[in-house]
Amino acid sequence: MEFDILTLFPRIFAGPLDESILKRAREAGLVQIRVHNLRDFTHDKHRVVDDKPYGGGPGMLMKPEPIFEAVEKMQRPDSCVVLMTPQGPPLTQARAQAFAGKPHLIIICGHYEGVDERVREALVDEEVSIGDYVLTNGALAAAVVVDAVTRLLPGAIGHEQSAVDDSFATGLLEGPQYTRPPEFRGMKVPDVLLSGNHGEVAKWNKEQARQRTRQRRPDLLEGEDKL
Ligand code: ADE
Repeated sequence: MEFDILTLFPRIFAGPLDESILKRAREAGLVQIRVHNLRDFTHDKHRVVDDKPYGGGPGMLMKPEPIFEAVEKMQRPDSCVVLMTPQGPPLTQARAQAFAGKPHLIIICGHYEGVDERVREALVDEEVSIGDYVLTNGALAAAVVVDAVTRLLPGAIGHEQSAVDDSFATGLLEGPQYTRPPEFRGMKVPDVLLSGNHGEVAKWNKEQARQRTRQRRPDLLEGEDKL
């Protein structure tokens, strides 16, 4: 899978993309992630990427020309163009799964007060928000998308099953988990987990996941047959 990320702050991506699973996925060739500076698609001396909104109002908008030039240079028939914006529908595990099935994502990171509407009209296939809060720009949000999608690519994480079992993939939050030692500062690992009875362990895990979801995120169970 390939990502082309258009941003005013390429350095924001250096840390997140260079660690752990993302780093290994890149090295293994599962994913190619290219980060582009939108200023490289300007042609004036000051490399201007923003301008005042028509009709007045506070702040600046991202100009359409550099974004159009960059996207049109990278776009292929199988590309999906994504705009990071708090106005988009929320990123969910289902949306991450859908993105993981696409060969090429071009991600536009918004900045300033937003982008010229013609970018949305003519270029963007999908808008995505990572939550109901406003970041200073879309770069961190794009890094979140790259992370959530890359870990779903076959071979990206060691134990394939863990992407299948993890919170949200099942529609439920994951329940409590334990590792050694069996007793730590008086706190014991539940007996069932030490029993070696896989059937009982699976039953316990499922019940704990249901309970945790009911307590913390009842909205995930609404209208579903998961209770
Ligand atoms: N840009 C600024 N805030 C954002 C958010 N919550 N999600 C996606 N992009 C953003």
